Amino acid sequence: MPKKDAPTKDRSTVRVLLRLWPYVRPVRARVGSAAVVAVVASCLGLVIPLVLKWIVDGPVARRDPGGVWLGALVVLALGIAEAVLFGLRRWLVARPLAGVEAAMRADLYRHLQRLPIAFHDRWPSGQLLSRATTDLSLIRMFLAFPMTFLFVNGVTVVVGCGLLLAQDWTLGLVLLVPVVPLIVVCHLFESRYSLVARRAQDQVGDVTTVVEESVLGIRIIKGFGRHRSQMDGFRALAQRLRGTELAKARLLAGIWAVITIVPELAIGAALVLGAVQVADGGLSAGTLVAFLSTALALRWPVESIGFLLAMSQEAATSVERFFEVMDEAEEDAGGSGAASVASGGLRLENVSFRYPDAPEGAPPVLSGVDLFVRPGETMALVGATGSGKTTLTSLVPRLHEVSGGRILLDGVDVTAMSRQRLRELVSVAFEEPTLFSASVAENVLMGAGPGGAGEAELWRALEVAQAGFVRDLPEGAATEVGEQGLSLSGGQRQRLALARAVVGRPRFLVLDDPLSALDVHTEALVEAALRDVLRDTTALVVAHRPSTVMLADRVALLSAGRIAAVGTHQELLRSSREYAWLMSGAETTGSTR
Ligand SMILES: Nc1ncnc2c1ncn2[C@@H]1O[C@H](COP(=O)(O)OP(=O)(O)OP(=O)(O)O)[C@@H](O)[C@H]1O
Ligand SMILES: [Mg+2]
Repeated sequence: MPKKDAPTKDRSTVRVLLRLWPYVRPVRARVGSAAVVAVVASCLGLVIPLVLKWIVDGPVARRDPGGVWLGALVVLALGIAEAVLFGLRRWLVARPLAGVEAAMRADLYRHLQRLPIAFHDRWPSGQLLSRATTDLSLIRMFLAFPMTFLFVNGVTVVVGCGLLLAQDWTLGLVLLVPVVPLIVVCHLFESRYSLVARRAQDQVGDVTTVVEESVLGIRIIKGFGRHRSQMDGFRALAQRLRGTELAKARLLAGIWAVITIVPELAIGAALVLGAVQVADGGLSAGTLVAFLSTALALRWPVESIGFLLAMSQEAATSVERFFEVMDEAEEDAGGSGAASVASGGLRLENVSFRYPDAPEGAPPVLSGVDLFVRPGETMALVGATGSGKTTLTSLVPRLHEVSGGRILLDGVDVTAMSRQRLRELVSVAFEEPTLFSASVAENVLMGAGPGGAGEAELWRALEVAQAGFVRDLPEGAATEVGEQGLSLSGGQRQRLALARAVVGRPRFLVLDDPLSALDVHTEALVEAALRDVLRDTTALVVAHRPSTVMLADRVALLSAGRIAAVGTHQELLRSSREYAWLMSGAETTGSTR
């Protein structure tokens, strides 16, 4: 299972966020200059109180309207300059940061494509979806806003405090004393908030998983009238997420209250004290005005720190969730190709396999499997349901890695081949045909090697797969199918998947019950065509029906995790009781399943 435990308490938010550096590096110039512009803008705001002080102590005291006007103009100009600079900052960062998000998303997608099937078996798809969407936009928001403004506001607060102390250090101290408890509160808040933020983001992933499953499984849900229970399950998850979001909101409200009230009180105290001093003549009115307006100007930088920290926490959580996936090892590219070449054909030697996530102590699915399919031969693989046929076929193209033993293609160990070479050699089709949202032609030609294949190859493959129905589709082979296209029947989809498997004339063909949805006659036609066209292809075909099995050259019986018998259909019928039993059931019902 993916890590769903809360983050370790002592994780450093800064260290986590620093992992973003490789992505930010390319845009560092823009982001850096934007930060400088923002600091300048923010400090311009702090000059305004000084001008006010000059106005009050100078022209106002001297009753000089011209001077007051001049001062007002300077204040106006400063305000405009501040606004323009903040606009410039936004313009500077918007485009590069969208680029950063796009780069991270592309990396994640590329990585997901390369992660082994075992990873995808383990991770719920919603958790991956939410990482590619919610988490990445949280990260972009962090880069656009808190990353710059924590720095900018920090600098502004320090400069402002310096100004306050320089103007009147006793009043300055009255304002600054509450900063200490504020820092403590912020720290407490941060560690609490990171826990809830993580929980919320994981729960978003869970909700996404349920939504995705319900959309994909809508037929089953409707067919069994399970809307209510499905809805209840969804509601429970949504409630849980709502609870977490409320906890987040409570924390935010708490910190917000503290961060706004404390400075407010301090400013009030300073106002009273300052007014008394002005009355006593110990302080000029201009200084008090400047002092108070500086304090007011600092209110926003201080108050914003609460939610900037919250956003940073969420971003740190997102970064962790992002790198949890990115840190998973990809499939290795494969070996050097240097291996002793023995005989051709497909050979399994003492192959054993257990699923990585199988419970401790469970027997392996396969153990000591020895099988040899001669070059050009078609071998049927027969076994009771759950005996491991699908598992065995998935080992040949290395969708899973063998736990022991080895698999040889034309004498070369599959682990010694590059993935690309392996994909060129072996084509696969499964019982559950997957079509992508693309045209029929694109779906089928996906199976052609890197060189691609032409129109002629396409139609030949469709012919072999008895997929002549394509001609009658609204736009022929250009018709869009898949989730966003035309809906095809199960048998039609199976035949397209089969066409995809044979279009590249592979040397090895691995078919996991790819004809289960066809009627016996169509199936026989497909098999006859396969034998004709793929005379040089070595094939391993999982089969359930005698009609399929009889067309194979030989049959292997998989039982109790090993190959129990190999021979022709007739031989096995005589020699193996299990085989005879499997086949007899098939003959009376038309299918063993
Ligand atoms: N991803 C997986 N993780 C853990 N165990 C699995 C996984 N896939 C299959 N299994 C287990 O491995 C065993 C063999 O399954 P497999 O799908 O290979 O059977 P099969 O012979 O293809 O059955 P069928 O004829 O029904 O298609 C089963 O006991 C199944 O529970
Ligand atoms: Mg199977």
